[in-house]
Amino acid sequence: MATFVNGPVRVSVPATSANLGPGFDSLGLALSLRDTLEAEVTDGGLRIEVTGAGADDVPRDETHLVVRSMRAAFAAMDAEPAGLLLRCTNVIPHGRGLGSSSAAIVGGVSLARALVAGGQLLLDDDALFRLAADIEGHPDNVAPAFYGGFVISGREGDEWYAVAAGVDPRVSTVVFVPSTPVETKVARGLLPDVVPHADAAANSGRAALLVAALAGRPEHLLTATRDYLHQEQREPAMPASLELVHGLRADGIAAVISGAGPTVLAFTDSYGADLTTRAPRGWACHALDIESSGVLVGD
Ligand code: HSE
Repeated sequence: MATFVNGPVRVSVPATSANLGPGFDSLGLALSLRDTLEAEVTDGGLRIEVTGAGADDVPRDETHLVVRSMRAAFAAMDAEPAGLLLRCTNVIPHGRGLGSSSAAIVGGVSLARALVAGGQLLLDDDALFRLAADIEGHPDNVAPAFYGGFVISGREGDEWYAVAAGVDPRVSTVVFVPSTPVETKVARGLLPDVVPHADAAANSGRAALLVAALAGRPEHLLTATRDYLHQEQREPAMPASLELVHGLRADGIAAVISGAGPTVLAFTDSYGADLTTRAPRGWACHALDIESSGVLVGD
């Protein structure tokens, strides 16, 4: 049976944006906004303190996503703490397509590993990523939350893969966050079972172009971020977001729906490009860098 380290451990996990237009369920980017989680082993019971985003909504029991993820990692290490104290300081908005659930999962499994003495030897990084992807069910947010930067991820047979790719330092982002959430399962329910071959072919070309555009040809980002598979299909659940995407793109700005929405992400090729004036009334707007680090332990 595993033993535990003394005192609290702390991790921080970045927000992430998945899809990025044509990279449905495979492309994801870490962004410079971080949730911070702290946990320690106690003599008994479970105590959860949450401040910030979602504090009024998330459960304070075993169903809390960070706790569920910690339990899965403890089980994988044959570790069973007598009790747990968890503190979450949430900055990533919930239900907006910025990876809050992946941050909770990646944070939870990383906290658990850091609490177990010699945890790195029991669960290496690849195993921890695979565990997090199993819990989430798709890897496009989990992978950049774990590894940082721009990551191409997916599944081959029974195995998840995640491959980091380069991002030109000129590329930055602005995110526009509506005041109300859209559930990912609602957004996924709007997708068709079948797409025309011509759309699939066009989408593949744009996804390939996007990897090159992000790597060093940002002048192609507008063309590269054109999606054929999910954004228009989800318009009924987020009409104002699609309207903003269309308006920005008409002005030459590479805008996409972030993840399953309803946040809109616009790429900028020079930091500080002032797009904040484009935010609809009542929406939050943040200029965010690409975050090169994923989950950090001890920060
Ligand atoms: N790629 C997912 C979707 C969301 O668009 O439904 C992020 O995992």
